Amino acid sequence: MSERSIVIFDTTLRDGEQSPGASMNIQEKLKVAQMLSELGVDVIEAGFPVVSPGDFESVQKIARSVRGSAVCALARCKPNDINAAWEALKDAERPRIHVFLATSEIHRRFKLRMTQEDVLMHTEGYVRMAAALCGDVEFSAEDASRTEPDFLCRVVEMAIKAGAKTINIPDTVGYAVPTQFADVIRTLRGNVPNIDRAVLSVHCHNDLGMALANTLAAVEAGAGQVECTINGIGERAGNCALEEIAMALNTRRDYYRAGTRIVTEKLVPASCLVAGVTGLEVPRNKAIVGRNAFAHESGIHQDGMLKNPTTYEIMRPETVGFVKTDLVLGKHSGRAALSAKVTQLGYTLTQEQTNALFEEFKTLTDRKKEVYDADIRSLIQHVLLSEERVGWELVSYVCQSGTERKPLVSLRLRRGDFAVEANDVTEGDGPIDSLFVAICRLTGLNLQCREYRVHSVTIGHDAQGEVNVAVEFNNSEYRGRAVSTDCVEASILAFLDAVNRIAAA
Ligand code: KIV
Ligand code: ZN
Repeated sequence: MSERSIVIFDTTLRDGEQSPGASMNIQEKLKVAQMLSELGVDVIEAGFPVVSPGDFESVQKIARSVRGSAVCALARCKPNDINAAWEALKDAERPRIHVFLATSEIHRRFKLRMTQEDVLMHTEGYVRMAAALCGDVEFSAEDASRTEPDFLCRVVEMAIKAGAKTINIPDTVGYAVPTQFADVIRTLRGNVPNIDRAVLSVHCHNDLGMALANTLAAVEAGAGQVECTINGIGERAGNCALEEIAMALNTRRDYYRAGTRIVTEKLVPASCLVAGVTGLEVPRNKAIVGRNAFAHESGIHQDGMLKNPTTYEIMRPETVGFVKTDLVLGKHSGRAALSAKVTQLGYTLTQEQTNALFEEFKTLTDRKKEVYDADIRSLIQHVLLSEERVGWELVSYVCQSGTERKPLVSLRLRRGDFAVEANDVTEGDGPIDSLFVAICRLTGLNLQCREYRVHSVTIGHDAQGEVNVAVEFNNSEYRGRAVSTDCVEASILAFLDAVNRIAAA
């Protein structure tokens, strides 16, 4: 049997960004899009342009800069949505408009207040409108897995007739189970007369933990495109994880006889980048990209691994981008060693970024003797995301605290040429809380701290601490992240990162 090629449609920047607290700024979205393109993603869903000027601008910038992958934008069946999607996409090398409309009885009755005939009419009219603007149109039947099969066939036939080249079947609420979901795909393939004129796609949510299983069942039943996100982020419990579907198809090629264009060695760098920009940490035991995904703890397993890795390992860690040796860099390591490490970790940097990284690396080696891969990853992350950064910066801080006394902090910040300071702040339960009070005072923002997490990036007493925070401002949540060998400094920088995101938003 000849091998099929499965189209990878990534929606990290659209559905993924809908994860609570995962919003990204334009610069971060551009970096993620660049990474997705290097990863070999076929279609990048860049956003939902009608939603806000910021969404519009990021889709437009991605459309203008990405080469190699198609760039897609989402639109409801509404003229403004479709016009905004096209306006944002029109300079892309390969633009795609993604039009969606709910089809299930529940959505028709309670959300849309539409009859079946209304849904058919809207599908025809708006797919036609999109197809008149763009040669590549995808249509999604929202909540398809809970739609009456006969009606779903009629909608799909209509969308293809109106010009859709890809038909997406979402399991919007994560309700499907694999055998039933595969049947939906088979029913469409067997009953829609013009189905061979479109690629069938699936988009599975993970509410019951079955997003990957449902996606694979659909591929087996004939789906030619899968929609997924890095680290499986997305609405509620998230979407099918790109790294999981790519590696399942890759590792079980013998069974699925289907391949993708994904450069698997870039999976870990992509995962780290998305975790860094969204603040959504990857669980240690996460399949493929979790820190423990290739760690063997039991003695029996370790013994087997030493005798022959295939005893307990179905994939090599290097295949997904974990590097084999944790070669330690230090004060005496030069540019060449650093550049080699960057390449080994799966990143591609410009000359300018490499120079900035080298500066940061040298600063770090003044504070830390041994620099590990995880340190380099976090420096790269910082360099990738800190270009063009404007906003509040830390100038200096002093902080005293103890069991027998109230905390006492002083903080000096700068924004451009404008410096401000707060001295002898004593409010707060401890030093971090007092510094947070000082930041609110100096920036004039009324923030509530909703989350504060600190963990060590590597081992050793001089390890860097990574701080992740979430603050609430005007009913919206903003994340911040920073790394330093000084955890208090990392905390201030993480809060400032959140403050700067608020300013940017
Ligand atoms: O889950 C869903 O149904 C969606 C559609 C817009 C494709 O995200
Ligand atoms: Zn979705």
